[in-house]
Amino acid sequence: MATSESMHGMWSSRLMFILAAAGSAVGLGNIWRFPYVAGENGGGAFVLIYLACIFLIGIPIMSSEILLGRIGRQSPINTMRSVAASSGANPGWQLIGWMGALAGFMILSFYSVIAGWVLSYVFQMGAGTFVGADAEAAGAHFGEFTGSVWSVTAWHTVFMIMTIMITARGVGRGLEVAVKYLMPALFVLLALLVVYAAFTSGHFMEGVQFLFSFNFDKLTGNSVLLAMGQAFFTLSLGMGAIMAYGAYMPKDSSVIGTATMIALMDTAVALMSGLVIFPLVFANGLPSAAGPGLMFVTLPIAFGQMAGGQLFGCVFFILVSFAAITSAISLVEPAVAWVVEKLNTSRAAGAWLIGGVAWLVGLGSAFSTNIWSDVHFIGEMTFFDTMDYVSNNIILPLGGIFIAVFAAWILDGRIRDEEMARDGGLYGVWRVVTRFVAPVAVAIVFIMTFL
Ligand code: PFF
Repeated sequence: MATSESMHGMWSSRLMFILAAAGSAVGLGNIWRFPYVAGENGGGAFVLIYLACIFLIGIPIMSSEILLGRIGRQSPINTMRSVAASSGANPGWQLIGWMGALAGFMILSFYSVIAGWVLSYVFQMGAGTFVGADAEAAGAHFGEFTGSVWSVTAWHTVFMIMTIMITARGVGRGLEVAVKYLMPALFVLLALLVVYAAFTSGHFMEGVQFLFSFNFDKLTGNSVLLAMGQAFFTLSLGMGAIMAYGAYMPKDSSVIGTATMIALMDTAVALMSGLVIFPLVFANGLPSAAGPGLMFVTLPIAFGQMAGGQLFGCVFFILVSFAAITSAISLVEPAVAWVVEKLNTSRAAGAWLIGGVAWLVGLGSAFSTNIWSDVHFIGEMTFFDTMDYVSNNIILPLGGIFIAVFAAWILDGRIRDEEMARDGGLYGVWRVVTRFVAPVAVAIVFIMTFL
C-alpha cells in the first residue's frame, strides 16, 4: 500500500508543503474569527487556553494527520481505510474520513459567505467608501451590507466559483504560486498594521493587556470549548485537510518539525491580527464583544483615517481574500480527492459537485444576517452560528481525538517508526503527548462542557 506518490500529484518540495499547509491554516480563522471569539470570551484567559491547545493538542494532532496522509497517499477516507487495513484494525476507522468530509462541507458553506464579505470589502475599500469614516459610519455600513440578501449571496457565489476553479486546476498549478507570494505579502502588511496600531491608535497597551492579561473570572466551561474549537479551526485540524495535503508530501522530511513550523506561523498571524484589532476597538470606543462584524468595522475605520488608507485597505482585503481561498481549497480537497478516486471523474467534476452542494448549504448562512436573522436553530443560534458551533467545537475536536488515538495507539508501530525516523528525540515526546495528553484533554473539555 504505502506508495511513494499520490495519484493526485505531489508538492514539489518540503517548503511547498509547508506553504500549502500554512495557506490552509492561515485564513479567516486568524484574522476574522480569532479576534472576535477572543473578544466575546473576555480576552486574556481565553487566549492562554487557546495557546495551550495549539501546543498540547494542535501540534501533536497536526503531526498525526501529516503522518497518516503520507502513509496512505489518498483522500482521507481511503487513506484511513487502507492504513487501518494494513495495521489490522477495524475498517470502521474510515469514519474519520467521512466525518471530516462532512465537517469540510459545513465549514466551507459558511466560510464562503464570510469570504464573500471580504471580497466585497475589497471593492468598497477601493471605491473609498470608508474614507474618513468613524465607528458609527463603519458599523452602519456593515449592517447595511450584511442586511442585503442579494449582496451577500452574490459575493458568496463569486467566492465559491473562485474556489472551485482553483481546486479544479489541481495541486501544483495555481495553488503553489498563490501561497508562495501572497502569504509573505499578507504577513508583511499585517506587520505594518501592527506598527500603525502601536504608534497611532494611542490605545496599543490596552489592546495588549486585553489579549495577554489572564483574567480567569471571565472564563466559563463553554469558553474553554470555544478556545479549543478555535485551535482546531485555525490549524485546519480534525477533518482531514492536513491529512489530504500530507498525502502529497515528499517522504524525506520530518513530521513534527514541519507541523511545529506551520503552527507557529499560524499563531503569529492570529496574535498579530489581535494586536491590530483591539487597539482600534479601544481607540474608537467599540465593544470588544461585537461578534462576527468586529474586523469589518474596526479595520475600515483605521484605513479610512490613515494616509493612503484607500489603497492599503484595498490591498489588505485582497490579501485576506487570498488567505481565505487557500484555506477554502483545503476544505474541499478531502471530498474532491475522494470523489475523483471513487467515481473516477476529473478533478473539475469533483470540485463543481462538492462546491455546488456547499454553496447551496451556504445560502442558509448567507441568509442569517438578513431574511433568516430571526430563525434560530440551537438555542439562540442562527443557521450560520449553528454550522460554525457544531463543526468547529464538536466535529473537529471529535475527529481530532480519533486521529490521535489511531496514529498513536492503533497504527502499526513499525510503519510509524519508519515514517517518524527523521524526527529523532521529538518522536518520543510526540508519542506520549499524542497517546495520553491530547485525547484526554479534548475528552475533559467535552465532559466539562456537556455534562
Ligand atoms: N484554518 C482555516 C482558517 O483559519 O481560516 C480554516 C480551515 C481550513 C478550517 C481548512 C478547517 C480546514 F480543514
